[in-house]
Amino acid sequence: MQPRIPRATFAKCLSFPERNGEENMAHLRFAILTSGGDASGMNAALRGVVREAHAQGHVVMGVQRGFCGLIQGALNPLGPRDVSNILQHGGTFLRTSRCPEFATEEGRRKAVDTLRAHAVDVLIVVGGNGSLRGAMALAGLWGGQVLGLPGTIDNDLYGTDETIGYDTAVTTALDAIDKIRDTADSHERFFLVEVMGRDAGFIALQVALGGGAEEVLVPEETPDFPAMVARLRKGRQNGKTSSIVIVAEGAYPGGAQAVATELHKLGGDDYRVTVLGHIQRGGAPTARERLLATRLGAHAVRAAIAGETGKMVGLAGNRLTLVPLADAVNKKKSLDPELLALARRLSQ
Ligand code: F6P
Repeated sequence: MQPRIPRATFAKCLSFPERNGEENMAHLRFAILTSGGDASGMNAALRGVVREAHAQGHVVMGVQRGFCGLIQGALNPLGPRDVSNILQHGGTFLRTSRCPEFATEEGRRKAVDTLRAHAVDVLIVVGGNGSLRGAMALAGLWGGQVLGLPGTIDNDLYGTDETIGYDTAVTTALDAIDKIRDTADSHERFFLVEVMGRDAGFIALQVALGGGAEEVLVPEETPDFPAMVARLRKGRQNGKTSSIVIVAEGAYPGGAQAVATELHKLGGDDYRVTVLGHIQRGGAPTARERLLATRLGAHAVRAAIAGETGKMVGLAGNRLTLVPLADAVNKKKSLDPELLALARRLSQ
């Protein structure tokens, strides 16, 4: 069996050219980090960046543990062999963190000092909304090129159809929901299944459609519990033998457990609650995920070589795009109302 992190991670790569040699002046020095919640496919993105950069004669440094590692100066060269056998694994082999110190001016200045001390030209940040905000803050202080890759299971970044980690999270959640359907149907029960999504209902809507859920609660809408109880009851009268309600964690304070209490108060029925939690973040990336992350990673390198900065690489249809980081984090990506309506029509 392959070890989880197959190579001596961060092995000193002596073959990297130094920037001060005259003949090497054209080489760009990239640094890459993963930040915030891990997302399956981040490893594939790292491999895409390292291999594309290397293929074009550039140098990549891997930063450990997100912005905290940047503050601490924890970065090492990454060669093509350092990213062998990682794209099929979930998590991020660079590790990640949510870094309170980076929220301070002093922390960000230390991060800039590290980038300067290592003569970094381009920083690539893989992460969600908070991480890309961090990337923007650094860009303002530092002056080097900064590019973002959308890495979050929540799929809530504007400017890309899909984020790294989303498809795998949906696939994992659906697998669980299919299993819950078996037991729900056998016992003719009502189930509430809580999926991740603090501020956005993309995972919830996708799995509601894919799993044929009877109801879906998303943070983008205020729940109408009496109407929901009435619909669930009507479904039973119409011959439904089980009922699954998908609840995005941010849809109601207290999540699915609190929703169960509210629904019970109104209708008297018992609701079994399953909180899927962090299993949605782990596991091997789906085929689609690997392709997305690989393409985004390689494109970030090409964009940097072309001189781009302050942008996030995204996917629109089958086209790779660049969107200003400010738009990616500040503009709202909305749920498709037609998909919501479809989920509701088909659940009757
Ligand atoms: O941002 C991705 C996410 O998985 C959210 O859906 C969830 O609310 C959050 O991270 C959980 O974060 P943590 O792992 O820090 O508890």
